[in-house]
Amino acid sequence: MIKLVILLSLCSIEVSSICQSCFPTDFLWGASTSSYQIEGAWNTSGKGENIWDWFTHSFPEKIKDGSNGDVAADSYNKYLDDVELLKNLGANVYRLSLSWSRILPNGTVNNINQEGVDYYINLLTALRENNIEPVVTIYHWDLPLPLHEMGGWTNPLIVDFYNVYADLCFSLFGDLVKYWLTLNESISQCYFGYGEGTHAPGYQESGTLTYICAYTQLLAHAKAYRTYNDTYKQMYNGEVGVVLVSLWYEPLTDSDEDKTAAENGVQWALGLFGHPIFIGNWPQVIIDRIGNLSALQGLNASRLPEFTSEEIELIKGTYDYMGFNYYTTFYATPINNIENIELVVQSYGVDRNVNSSVDPAWTSSASGLVYDVPTGIRSMLNWVAKNFGNPRILITENGWASLPESSLNDTERITYLQGHLCNTLKAIYIDGVNVFGYLNWSLIDNFEWDGGYDVRFGLVEVDFENSNRTRTPKQSYYAFQEIIKSNCISHCFVKRDD
Ligand code: BGC
Repeated sequence: MIKLVILLSLCSIEVSSICQSCFPTDFLWGASTSSYQIEGAWNTSGKGENIWDWFTHSFPEKIKDGSNGDVAADSYNKYLDDVELLKNLGANVYRLSLSWSRILPNGTVNNINQEGVDYYINLLTALRENNIEPVVTIYHWDLPLPLHEMGGWTNPLIVDFYNVYADLCFSLFGDLVKYWLTLNESISQCYFGYGEGTHAPGYQESGTLTYICAYTQLLAHAKAYRTYNDTYKQMYNGEVGVVLVSLWYEPLTDSDEDKTAAENGVQWALGLFGHPIFIGNWPQVIIDRIGNLSALQGLNASRLPEFTSEEIELIKGTYDYMGFNYYTTFYATPINNIENIELVVQSYGVDRNVNSSVDPAWTSSASGLVYDVPTGIRSMLNWVAKNFGNPRILITENGWASLPESSLNDTERITYLQGHLCNTLKAIYIDGVNVFGYLNWSLIDNFEWDGGYDVRFGLVEVDFENSNRTRTPKQSYYAFQEIIKSNCISHCFVKRDD
């Protein structure tokens, strides 16, 4: 007991050789959302149709509850309520995304929708008036439908369409935005949207289209980064990054095969996109694996598009900081008897060769989407630091899923939050990882893609039955508010020899 009291008092000292429970004084705190998931107003005020409007309307059976984002949390009309929630939370940053088709209804600059532009100017201004720095994702999966009709992310022409759109965003909002993020989680869009088909646009060609999408998204990111650097950096002095994501994988056993499978799990999500940006070119392990399999499958070229040396240079180094999303951890082992299928099945899953499982002891979120494995975030952050040259990292998403009927007393979300923040602190102070902020997913309940409204990530409950979309903070909102206010995590003893 006496020992605990001593530890507790030492932990209140910001830097102590024994323990550490406070974040750096300039740490950024906030929450994240994205346009399609919260805005609604899908066909009003001049907005054009995007792939999620089209996908949810055409294939409601692909969404768990058959719903869509037509109204969502109605943040198009209620954005000032969201700003108020952020202010009361004590947030100093808020991550939002711009809806491409709200700004450019047909996807091109031939037609700029002033009402859409005004909406974002009003939102960004309201945030800044409340001392909340916006973190703006230029694209979070809601591609304008006309651009999808010309092939979307499978057509290399998209790279310039995106760059022109990003250029316009920099010029319209550059004076209001310090932190830009070009794209959200390319692996999720390229795999779920073009590989598995559970997300818009619903394609199921993971052995080819997933990689073509990765190729075009990386080029789009790089060009937009360079556009900002060349034209706007001097004027606005903002920073441009990209949001990457991965699950963390632990080897199922100590065997070398399982260790390789665990490393593959991370490489095929984080390496695929991070290596070209932080180091240059695709990871060699991925080039080799897809190249060899493509040859064995009788193809005369690799299914992985090859970058030219100019493209490698164009992409390399295009970051001022890294946006990073982490949710959960799995165990990894290779797929059983893969040699029986790998010559005939051309798929991302077979290429990657990871069979994942969970530990029954891990607390599972009611939705089954997230398991609470807080040490995973520390391992993941260390992987990034080691493999990508210790970049500055902003945690742009991390959060817990619950069911609609869950109570406002969301203790599991609070436990998840505290555990992940404690492990983030360990990564910062013990391991020397360069994390400068944390944004929780999500500020409010919202449209969870193919999960519809059956999966709730919000710190704040939204009543989707009520036309007012009434917002009620959950207990986790108040717990997070306390953490932000104190800038510290209680019951988190960060010992140097941990
Ligand atoms: C996405 C969010 C999503 C969240 C929870 C991330 O993959 O960026 O849009 O709602 O995870 O599934």
